[in-house]
Amino acid sequence: MFYETDTNDHGLAHDPFKALVSPRPIGWIGTTDPDGTHNLAPYSFFNAISDNPKMVMFASDGRKHTLSNIEASREFTVSLASRHLAEKVNLSSIDAPAETDEFAHSGLTARIGTLVRAPYVAEAFSALECKLIDIVQPTALDGTPSGYIMTIGQVVGIHIDSVIVKGGKIDMPTAAPLARLGYRDYCDGAVTFEMIRPKWDDQRG
Ligand SMILES: Cc1cc2nc3c(=O)[nH]c(=O)nc-3n(C[C@H](O)[C@H](O)[C@H](O)COP(=O)(O)O)c2cc1C
Repeated sequence: MFYETDTNDHGLAHDPFKALVSPRPIGWIGTTDPDGTHNLAPYSFFNAISDNPKMVMFASDGRKHTLSNIEASREFTVSLASRHLAEKVNLSSIDAPAETDEFAHSGLTARIGTLVRAPYVAEAFSALECKLIDIVQPTALDGTPSGYIMTIGQVVGIHIDSVIVKGGKIDMPTAAPLARLGYRDYCDGAVTFEMIRPKWDDQRG
């Protein structure tokens, strides 16, 4: 099958794009609004984009509370959700009014960052503290602005619960990072395997 995305005539019952570009890690973004209300929401258009310096991005489908709060405060946290928090991730995605604290709504504990004032999820095994680098609204090939707005942050601090550290590494079966597949499907990264990258000189003997 091949189809052009202009017409999106894939003939399937559901758009396959997000199922194909998967699994996508979930950035559980914590922010504070100018009145001090804590905000929490999951974003699966999320990923790391640089290791040195460490940077992450997420993309918002239009203007949402998270984006407005970051524009005002210039900082945010990303809690990394694990399987045991999946239902709370889902709860925190509710389209609640701006004055709603989604940490409280989801039965989670908000803990203020060390280097940023934004809150993160205390129950998460790890969390990133981020400062705003850029907000980008890409322009499509036809010249129209994308409906999605991308926020890029630099990671200035990282919290790790020692429970997920084994032998000096993050133990993936314990961390069980929650990720989004297509449709309503999720996975938890519990099944892993290792591969060593090839080196040109080694193969030439
Ligand atoms: C697992 C999951 C992933 C999501 N990913 C995104 C995303 O990448 N971009 C987006 O705009 N909304 C996404 N949403 C929807 C937002 O979480 C939802 O609109 C939320 O209410 C936004 O909250 P805010 O207005 O407080 O920022 C996702 C929802 C779920 C459950």
